[in-house]
Amino acid sequence: MKRSADPAIDFRSDTVTHPTPAMRRAMVDAEVGDDVFGDDPTVKKLEALAAEMVGKEAALYVSSGTMANATAMLTHLRRGDEVILGARSHIYLNEQGGLAALAGAQAAPILENADGALPLDAIEAAVREDDEHCPITRLVCIENTHNLCGGQPVSVEHTEAVGALARKYGLKFHIDGARLFNAAVALNVSAEALARPADSVSFCLSKGLCAPVGSLVCGSREFVRQARRARKLLGGGMRQAGVIAAAGIVALTSMVERLSNDHDDAQLLAQGLAKIPGIVFDPATVKTNMVYFDLAPEVPFDAAALEKKMKERGVLMLTAGPRRMRMVLHYWISPTDVERAVEVFREVMA
Ligand SMILES: Cc1ncc(COP(=O)(O)O)c(C=O)c1O
Repeated sequence: MKRSADPAIDFRSDTVTHPTPAMRRAMVDAEVGDDVFGDDPTVKKLEALAAEMVGKEAALYVSSGTMANATAMLTHLRRGDEVILGARSHIYLNEQGGLAALAGAQAAPILENADGALPLDAIEAAVREDDEHCPITRLVCIENTHNLCGGQPVSVEHTEAVGALARKYGLKFHIDGARLFNAAVALNVSAEALARPADSVSFCLSKGLCAPVGSLVCGSREFVRQARRARKLLGGGMRQAGVIAAAGIVALTSMVERLSNDHDDAQLLAQGLAKIPGIVFDPATVKTNMVYFDLAPEVPFDAAALEKKMKERGVLMLTAGPRRMRMVLHYWISPTDVERAVEVFREVMA
């Protein structure tokens, strides 16, 4: 049963997903306590499950992906430290500079390859010398899946290579795994394998996994002990959070494997779009639940106009540049919805 206010087919993001009936039932029945006192059994259960699934000692439940990353930054970094990360990463571009604003650190951004991987030689070149003029390179971050690189899943091999460099230079290693389970399903590997080389990994419950709220930040017991302090500093200590954590448990136990349906639907959309004149993209670049495409130069309108025309016809999507669009597949979009959207595209682009 879809209980959203809007009957439109909503491709804007997988964050528009709302809880499944099983989640709503679990939320009603959730056992709760004061989680700041460490008393909420449902939050504890979610954190234990999350830690186990990514192969870390412990996990911390936070309100959002942004808070998960901010918590990790505050935990790993000291004022004046430097962080090597992707120039198109969410942490660098879309978190209000929290790295600087909250942790007092600065970014050393390097441009990702098209597949979302950070070039290893560029990481190595960015590590600062031990020189009192320089900031201390403390942390390297990767994003998996990589949103702005088209939802690319970043491989175990690349993650291990970054982990090896981090060890070589004594750096900490954080993975922004907002969609880590999409990556694991797409690559047919465990989330644990993708997270193994990292000191910390964050992932979101409120995206493709459909929970209404929440992310986890995971790492060693000591890392999570410190992260709990950072969460409190950010105002993120929640009380009877078991009500929302209950939906997160349903997300982790029943919504991971089905992410492959969203990836299949993304392929269906990609194949449909590829046949429409004026839309430019390579369907082979679609690997998970995201489809980015461009409008050809001869199309007489821009992305904002396309967004408006599609919206008028009940199909929502986001612009990702003057002539670039993003569409994201998720639980509440069916293959029939995808076919309908492709039809609407044909009308609008004709
Ligand atoms: C890669 C990535 N990291 C972090 C976030 C932040 O998540 P939230 O919107 O829950 O703060 C997002 C949000 O879309 C994201 O795509």
